[in-house]
Amino acid sequence: MIFMPADSELPEGYPRDLEGEFDLRDGRNVLIRPILPADVDDLTEAIAHADSETLLHRFFTAAPHLSEKQIHYLAEVDYRRRLALVAADGEGQGVAVARYECHSNCNVAEVAVAVAPEWRTGGLATELLRRLEEPARKNGFSELDAVYLPENRAIAGVFERLGYSEQRIEDGVALVSKTLA
Ligand SMILES: CC(C)(COP(=O)(O)OP(=O)(O)OC[C@H]1O[C@@H](n2cnc3c(N)ncnc32)[C@H](O)[C@@H]1OP(=O)(O)O)[C@@H](O)C(=O)NCCC(=O)NCCS
Repeated sequence: MIFMPADSELPEGYPRDLEGEFDLRDGRNVLIRPILPADVDDLTEAIAHADSETLLHRFFTAAPHLSEKQIHYLAEVDYRRRLALVAADGEGQGVAVARYECHSNCNVAEVAVAVAPEWRTGGLATELLRRLEEPARKNGFSELDAVYLPENRAIAGVFERLGYSEQRIEDGVALVSKTLA
């Protein structure tokens, strides 16, 4: 269950200003907020129940076998060098997550996103990735990168709309990037 936390429950660095709402193109509404460690159970369940194509497109393998430690890592961010936003429906059911992660070069963060199938094509992935741009810039990143499978036309369209570079193919994967002003 995705909930809006009370002030007393906030982890250090939690950026309350990133909480908000979004109206999908079809009129449905979601709540958006930064991820919390308590989301680990929802995340575990979402990954366990995701279809193989979603897993393949998000993790590059249809059966990622993430350990408990790896899922905790995904839910526990520092909100600066690593940040994730989750979206939930009116019942608090998680429907999407988008994140940036700093890997080796800490001026560049890699973004990734997944939206539950019944919540797609409403602009949610585009919006979540857009909402990550300003915090990434404020936290010192000068560039966002993304890697995806070349046949993933939905995400290619999203990055195109967000003004990322034209995709280049390297070692069988598509790469795009965007310089943050
Ligand atoms: C890829 C994925 C995240 C897209 O999520 P989404 O919420 O459907 O994305 P959006 O709605 O923002 O955009 C997707 C499509 O909706 C359409 N769309 C969205 N907003 C629109 C708008 N305002 N007007 C017109 N079309 C719009 C676009 O046509 C786009 O399709 P296109 O790429 O063919 O142009 C989702 O399909 C998914 O979770 N896939 C599995 C995981 C994955 O691939 N992750 C990416 C790894 S980085």
